[in-house]
Amino acid sequence: MSEIPLKLAVNLALETPPSPDLVTPAEPANICFTSLINGLVENQWFVAENYLSQDLCDQLQQDLQGLREQSRLSPAGIGRGKNHLLNEDVRGDYTHWFDGSSLAQQSYLAIMRELKNTLNRELFLGLFEYECHYALYPPGAFYKKHLDSFRGRTSRKVTTVVYLNSAWQTEDAGEMRLYHPQTNQVLLDVAPRSGTLVCFMSEDLPHEVLPTNKNRMSIAGWFRCNTSLNGRIDPAL
Ligand code: OGA
Ligand code: MN
Repeated sequence: MSEIPLKLAVNLALETPPSPDLVTPAEPANICFTSLINGLVENQWFVAENYLSQDLCDQLQQDLQGLREQSRLSPAGIGRGKNHLLNEDVRGDYTHWFDGSSLAQQSYLAIMRELKNTLNRELFLGLFEYECHYALYPPGAFYKKHLDSFRGRTSRKVTTVVYLNSAWQTEDAGEMRLYHPQTNQVLLDVAPRSGTLVCFMSEDLPHEVLPTNKNRMSIAGWFRCNTSLNGRIDPAL
């Protein structure tokens, strides 16, 4: 059985922030941290429109387009390690894990470092690392209902998804649908509009990506607790 290349986990626990002249300001465009924290505590989810500035969204979108042109996106799989499978019946997106190699990625990671610090300060979650990937859903692609983390089986605690699609129309579809953790009722559909952040507890919130009618770009990420072993981050299950 061939080894899946270990994806790069970006360690946001680093005390030294990236050089300020390399990175655009880490302040999100429009965020009320109190409502974010309250949303996570009371509902296990939170949505913020315009969380990222349009400027940063454009830079990230260009970064993703560049990776696509260089054929550096891979069909997404499900499961980890030996259980990693490609399964187009479950998800049809193409991904690229962040490695911090572009200014856009560095700016985004700086913003997520702020968010991690806030979550740790307010909720004592002990979040340690952040890993994320770009995702491109071509027309017709979807991601069926799933949980990002199964209690006790992975160290993913909080999911973030931000969108990079300017001028998204209702008929473009591709919403992210969130379900109630206990009743399984639909909670809400989030349009993948540029700048919107969705944040939720990875072990609690079932969600899915409805089929999209246009290329749909996002960044999905996870704050994790530290379960690294022998220098490997969260070894494959
Ligand atoms: C995921 C996911 C949602 C989205 O990658 O696990 O649920 O809207 N993504 O891209
Ligand atoms: Mn998910």
